[in-house]
Amino acid sequence: MKTIIEPFKIKVVEPIRMTTRSERERILAEAGYNLFLVHSDDVLIDLLTDSGTAAMSHEQWAGIMRGDEAYACSRSWYRFLETVRSIFGFRHVIPTHQGRAAERILFSVLCKPGDVVPNNTHFDTTRANIEYRGAEARDLLRPEALETGRPLPFKGDMDTEALERLIDEVGTERIPLVMLTVTNNSGGGQPVSMANIRAVSEIAHRHGIPFYLDACRFAENAYFIQQREPGYADRSVREIAREMFSLADGCTMSAKKDGLVNIGGFLCTNDDRLAEQERDLLILTEGFPTYGGLAGRDLEAIAIGLEEVLHEDYLTYRIASTSYLGRRIADAGVPIVQPPGGHAIYIDAKAMLPQIPPLEFPGQALSVELYHEAGIRSVEIGSVMFARRDPDTGVEQPAPMELVRLAIPRRVYTQSHIDYVVEAILEVHRKREKLRGYRIVHQAPFLRHFTARFEPV
Ligand code: F0G
Repeated sequence: MKTIIEPFKIKVVEPIRMTTRSERERILAEAGYNLFLVHSDDVLIDLLTDSGTAAMSHEQWAGIMRGDEAYACSRSWYRFLETVRSIFGFRHVIPTHQGRAAERILFSVLCKPGDVVPNNTHFDTTRANIEYRGAEARDLLRPEALETGRPLPFKGDMDTEALERLIDEVGTERIPLVMLTVTNNSGGGQPVSMANIRAVSEIAHRHGIPFYLDACRFAENAYFIQQREPGYADRSVREIAREMFSLADGCTMSAKKDGLVNIGGFLCTNDDRLAEQERDLLILTEGFPTYGGLAGRDLEAIAIGLEEVLHEDYLTYRIASTSYLGRRIADAGVPIVQPPGGHAIYIDAKAMLPQIPPLEFPGQALSVELYHEAGIRSVEIGSVMFARRDPDTGVEQPAPMELVRLAIPRRVYTQSHIDYVVEAILEVHRKREKLRGYRIVHQAPFLRHFTARFEPV
């Protein structure tokens, strides 16, 4: 077996800057120990997100020059439309500036106060957009997916029995749609099996409820199905993606992930009436239906990115490099969500730092220390992001998991960058007993993790 290499060579470089430990101490204090508030020039390796951080190919940059900026019905729009239709297969494609704009439009049209939207796990913007409509976002992950160390092949699968129970309990009138997030980002970047997509689709349709995919990382999910699910080994990733989408009535998409671009998204549906309402809303805040919130050049880059992301040598490298990071740190005893996901490695901070109670944010403590140690930026996905206030008592309930996500930008870092990240994590792991928790000293009512300020306990 030969080394799996980056299937590209580098044509343009962007310098990154080392900082000293004492500089990083000052930077952390000034940012209120919130890595979202750290200047990116002060970050050496930025694993905050895989969203909008991809390196574009020379073909995409050429596409940027070819972009047609006509206001209506531009050439780039038709190229984008044809590409999305050929991969996703939906009748209506509505371009938006990013995924959450697609979510806002979809939920504005479909949800009313008191509704419930089931998903395997809602991403934070998805949840916030549903709650903003007065509806409830219900996560229905299978219980074994919460056992972080258990290496099951499809930990993103929805608990279909829980879905049936929910439908019985609240009734179909209050469930405007059922969603599945592929791969399941907040639940560890874990894939959803075709069998589960089919089962969820079947249940939703039996009750007359539309079924949508949150398709941000559809290519990575399709690749996992090819690698792991019986019966799919000989099918191309493109065919598998087509099959996934053929089971759904629509999707939301952030092209900032598997679109291999820095901005963009779209909303798809097969429902003519819904599409009309969605386009009316689109015009209010995003733009005319043939560009949404995007420039013609962006549409061109997305069309090319959606083709490139399905190249199987790209996906082989992509998934191999993520699992290399996971394997190296797990072999040295760092508790991670097993098996490694597609776009990220998730460290189980609750298991690694048992001395820090959940509401003193072990994930935040670990993520701050990784920056302190080595200039690496990661993100907490735990009680800072997802703690809930009990509506009766007002007491804060911790999130079910305390994770730190190391998200890998697409085509950006080389193996030696990843080796450096491994060394830094192992160093922090050796000193783990010395780490202490944090308390929040300032927070916003929605999505508090973006702007909260902390203090060491
Ligand atoms: N759905 C999922 C599963 C996501 O991961 C994201 C974004 C969105 C929707 C929203 O898309 O950012 O284009 O508006 N996730 C990024 C992340 C921000 O870091 O995981 P967006």
